[in-house]
Amino acid sequence: MFIRGAFGCGIGIASIGGYSRLLEPRWVETNYVPVKINALPKRFEGMTIAQLSDIHHCKYVPREFVRKCVRKVNALCPDIIVLTGDYIYRSDAFLLPVAEELSELKAKEGVFAVLGNHDNKGDTFSALSKAGIRVLINEHVPLFRKRDHLFVAGVDDLWKGWSDLGRALKGTDDKPKLLLAHNPDIIEMTKTTDVDFVMVGHTHGGQVSLPLYGPLIVYSKFGVRYAAGLFHERNTTMYVNKGIGVSGLPVRFFARPEITLFTLRNKRRKEVVRQEEQC
Ligand SMILES: [Fe+2]
Repeated sequence: MFIRGAFGCGIGIASIGGYSRLLEPRWVETNYVPVKINALPKRFEGMTIAQLSDIHHCKYVPREFVRKCVRKVNALCPDIIVLTGDYIYRSDAFLLPVAEELSELKAKEGVFAVLGNHDNKGDTFSALSKAGIRVLINEHVPLFRKRDHLFVAGVDDLWKGWSDLGRALKGTDDKPKLLLAHNPDIIEMTKTTDVDFVMVGHTHGGQVSLPLYGPLIVYSKFGVRYAAGLFHERNTTMYVNKGIGVSGLPVRFFARPEITLFTLRNKRRKEVVRQEEQC
């Protein structure tokens, strides 16, 4: 009886190990998230934003997998694409290959990026810029649709103490502001601003999460509070993307890799319709 129990237990552990090491890290989910924005200009109604985060290209997150994710993002036909940091894991040798794959991203109105705590600022800025990606380091760009506009801002990494949200927003007017950051702890800094929507990564959704318990570890000063998903704090909405790569242990468990497609809607509009189109 004891031997059968131990054998069954061993099989169970091996199955969980195989699933979390081999299956779930490649089982990418695409999440469609409507986001309501105050006073969204009419011409930006229905604007789509694809988010890719925490790629962590390394021997456990191979180039072919990154390529598949890039193709999945392109297939969504987004108006803009945002990348929210952590492009490699441990070795700088992975930077140029990941930048080459990201150069294939296609969006009608641009690809924008911020840096994460695993990214060397100078080298990553250079590699992504050469790939045609606009890297936002404590700065913003306006997006125009005829006479309407909104802003896409990005901050440097919070963990390194380099985030300067005031500088990133300096010169913006009262039009909607989308903010890219790596770390969800940035939400604390947005309290005194009029940022409408923040897109972040960093947490990997805990990477290992237990049913009925939740994520085991989230590297945030707020613990597991902002592990993954959509949050509303005062007038600001924040989405925490689980990323597609891994760091530390090369496993994912109940924290599937994620690509997200946001659709912006004016807050006054009641009906939310998911738009699909061919590109
Ligand atoms: Fe990360």
